[in-house]
Amino acid sequence: EATKAEVKDQKNGSGKKVVVGFSQIGAESEWRTANTKSIKDACEEAGFELKFSDALQKQENQIKAIRSFIAQKVDYIALAPVVETGWDTVLKEVADAKIPLILVDRSVKTADGKDDLWITRVGENFYEEGKNLAEWVKNNEEKLGFKGKDTVNVYQLEGTVGSGAAIDRGQAWVDTMEGTKFKTIKSQTGDFTRAKGQEVMESWLKSDKGKIDLIYAHNDDMALGAISAIEAAGLNPGVDIKIVSIDGVKGAFEAMIAGKLNCVAECSPLTGPVLVQTISDLEAGKEVPKLTYAKEEVFPAEKAAEILPSRQY
Ligand code: AHR
Repeated sequence: EATKAEVKDQKNGSGKKVVVGFSQIGAESEWRTANTKSIKDACEEAGFELKFSDALQKQENQIKAIRSFIAQKVDYIALAPVVETGWDTVLKEVADAKIPLILVDRSVKTADGKDDLWITRVGENFYEEGKNLAEWVKNNEEKLGFKGKDTVNVYQLEGTVGSGAAIDRGQAWVDTMEGTKFKTIKSQTGDFTRAKGQEVMESWLKSDKGKIDLIYAHNDDMALGAISAIEAAGLNPGVDIKIVSIDGVKGAFEAMIAGKLNCVAECSPLTGPVLVQTISDLEAGKEVPKLTYAKEEVFPAEKAAEILPSRQY
């Protein structure tokens, strides 16, 4: 088996490092910061040269970055796509330039439904995360204080509109909660940021205070923003309004320990080593799987104190 070191030596021997252009979505969340660090660290350790571009959550910036990577003739392009659609033209340009494209994190949907514009995706299973969290909620009605209620009013803080992460997490909740007493009353995007999560929660508290039973936040940052808004409104987050979210960042574990957040489904940002291994395998002429998902768990609040010390992000 070829190792990372062999690849590095081969490249170093020929005087050329593997050059990777990485178009990252932005720095919208604690998760994203950890993902950027994981990829930067892993590339550095492998001896790859990384050209990093932060798109500030804008697809047009990502398209520009990809075109610039093509012009610079990088060896690989890694793309974390902010939204699912609208990539066909630029990805065809990448294919024409014969640069292998690796999707990291989120998914892409092409107009013809084919998946031949990328070599592989090193991602996370957003649908499974949403489903596991919804299942946990259904199975823990009593713990959440919903046992005697006919209807549980759910308010959903959605991720970025059109992103694979928001689409799949939303659909998983709908599918899992179908026919149950958990009814989604309002759903609004908080763009995966703490500030917008807080803003949306403030507006819901103005119009619907007393009616909100459960917040389903598509990521921890929006949940943490909602927690601030709930406290500012004189209510106890995690008690008066139950909150569940996705990611598992340290801030969420601290909120669970403080009793302000009820459960978290993990989404792992630590995909740098898998990305590097994938590139190393491609360098060695090996076949790589079309899709690799990170291993992820569900963490209820009562496990948070025990688990926090081992969290890496
Ligand atoms: O695509 C993964 C999602 O994007 C994470 O859940 C979120 O925190 C990030 O911004």
